[in-house]
Amino acid sequence: MYTKSIGKVGINGYPRLEESYWFGEGVLPILERRGLWRHPAPPRNTGQALSPFAATHAAPATREGHRLMTKIAVVTGNPKPASRTHSVAVAVADALTKELPGAETQPVVDLAGYAPRLFDWADEELTALTAQVAAADIAIFASPTYKAAYTGLLKAFLDRYGNNGLAGVTAVPVMTGGWPGHLLAVEVHLRPVLVELGATVPSRGLYVTEPELADLTSAVGKWSEAAIPLISGSLKG
Ligand SMILES: Cc1cc2nc3c(=O)[nH]c(=O)nc-3n(C[C@H](O)[C@H](O)[C@H](O)COP(=O)(O)O)c2cc1C
Repeated sequence: MYTKSIGKVGINGYPRLEESYWFGEGVLPILERRGLWRHPAPPRNTGQALSPFAATHAAPATREGHRLMTKIAVVTGNPKPASRTHSVAVAVADALTKELPGAETQPVVDLAGYAPRLFDWADEELTALTAQVAAADIAIFASPTYKAAYTGLLKAFLDRYGNNGLAGVTAVPVMTGGWPGHLLAVEVHLRPVLVELGATVPSRGLYVTEPELADLTSAVGKWSEAAIPLISGSLKG
């Protein structure tokens, strides 16, 4: 007879604590029903499920394969704080939130405020931010076009990740530019670095030109029609 004994589940904290919740809430109860596992120390009269990972907050259950607690991170690499590019990134997060009920946007990182510290590998706040972004389900990376490419500021943030540091993250590349001549920068420069870091990039990147910045609903809306189904589809399973 096949028996299982599970006493501990290792959590390395990098980057998917949520998967451990899924395991605790999904797999352990099944093993328990089949008599293959027993809780080492059941809680008394707490009303909690007999799982060491039972959530005390809303469970990250699935609806048609979607996470109810989808986390969306925003990172903008513009030396100007609170820039128009940052507004585009936030508008993309808002459009995604409308389609993914229960999604929350966190963290929202405007790198202008961190510029002097980006090359300090020991900076604890930046290390925590990179981990939070890597733990998100969806991460929007936005930059203005500078010299036909994305900014060095965004690159400095991305360089803080190790190999496959964004594995498991669905990434959305976003760029703004003065003119349409550099619109492929979002595909040929920003997308490859996200793929290199292990992220999944299922949709076209969004490139918004200066004149289009005046009407973000329209600029983001047009792109969203094709992009959002691909992005939300990549969260299934
Ligand atoms: C240093 C610098 C270089 C730029 N290079 C380009 C470029 O190569 N191609 C382009 O389309 N726009 C370029 N621009 C324009 C910006 O990409 C554009 O104004 C952008 O939308 C600004 O976004 P923001 O308002 O969020 O800063 C450049 C702007 C600056 C300041």
